[in-house]
Amino acid sequence: MKIYEAIKKDHEIQRDLCYKIVKTSGNSEERKELWKKLRRELEVHAVAEERYFYSPLIDTDKMQEDARHGMAEHHEMDELIHELEETDMSSPHWLATVEKLVEQVEHHLDDEEEDFFKKAKKVYSEKEAQALAKNYENTMQDYRKSWPESIPGNDGKGEE
Ligand SMILES: [Fe+2]
Ligand SMILES: [Fe+2]
Repeated sequence: MKIYEAIKKDHEIQRDLCYKIVKTSGNSEERKELWKKLRRELEVHAVAEERYFYSPLIDTDKMQEDARHGMAEHHEMDELIHELEETDMSSPHWLATVEKLVEQVEHHLDDEEEDFFKKAKKVYSEKEAQALAKNYENTMQDYRKSWPESIPGNDGKGEE
């Protein structure tokens, strides 16, 4: 497997959670459970993807701008996650904010899959793309298990 397929697989998990969470209401167990899963997926994915997809691209002239753009979007999503953590889940503001996050996530995933992957395929060799996938998947697996403490900047509560 190459890095693109490995990432795409996790994007599908995110899309599914995004689709489900906007249909939840109030302080329900379902909303709590879906939010925990979505937050974990987004945070762990951002770390692993920055390390094994974006970071090596920073060194290239062709994709430095794109890599910076992608990582800046991770930061924007992070801020919405923190806002959600501080908002009462049963308030209309929570739903409005999660809808904003979902919109950003969907736009970001499309950017990566339709634009960045295409360009990165001209940068990474097949072998490199396979090695990156392996590291990416190992990190996803380890960090999911030890989330939220595994995330740099998280002290267990998601505060920076
Ligand atoms: Fe991303
Ligand atoms: Fe991604």
